[in-house]
Amino acid sequence: MSDQEHPADTSSQAAQRAEQRWASVSVVIVVLLAALAAVFGIIHETMPQARVETVDPRQASISGEFIESNLGSALEPDGSVTVRALGQRYSFTPSCITVPTDTPITIRATSADVIHGILIEGTNINTMLIPGYISVITAQFQTRGERLMPCQEFCSVGHEGMWGKVKVIDKAEFKTLADKSKRVSCVGE
Ligand code: CUA
Repeated sequence: MSDQEHPADTSSQAAQRAEQRWASVSVVIVVLLAALAAVFGIIHETMPQARVETVDPRQASISGEFIESNLGSALEPDGSVTVRALGQRYSFTPSCITVPTDTPITIRATSADVIHGILIEGTNINTMLIPGYISVITAQFQTRGERLMPCQEFCSVGHEGMWGKVKVIDKAEFKTLADKSKRVSCVGE
């Protein structure tokens, strides 16, 4: 029997065959991963995420949703509040945001120049403002009071001085302000 005559040869042949098999398996895995990356890359390119909202940063303060008169807090017909804010070197507009207690709040913000960040002290709100994109954050505040809102992305020499404020006021008090003015803020208070 040849198997017994040349046991070393056959076992090395078997080892070689096994090696080739596993080598082909790893090549197939690599090809498959590359194909997946290509397919998802193409899908992502042709069909961007459904909820990404974009805005032209050069036009942000001139026309559309983020013009100055539209910034601040708006009471919606369903009782929720939408806050619109714009970050630019080195301030937020409005620099003081007023929100009511016990109310669903949606913050919509973007940047007119470079990447800034919004962080609201004492909450888990911490997001980047990326020029060209609208950051949407939902929040609810239970207690009244003032919270600091620093820019948390280094945006150049004035970064340290880029601070905003969030003032949480009573729900009824907010309603009174919203009845008087379409956009509420605490700038200049
Ligand atoms: Cu804006 Cu740091």
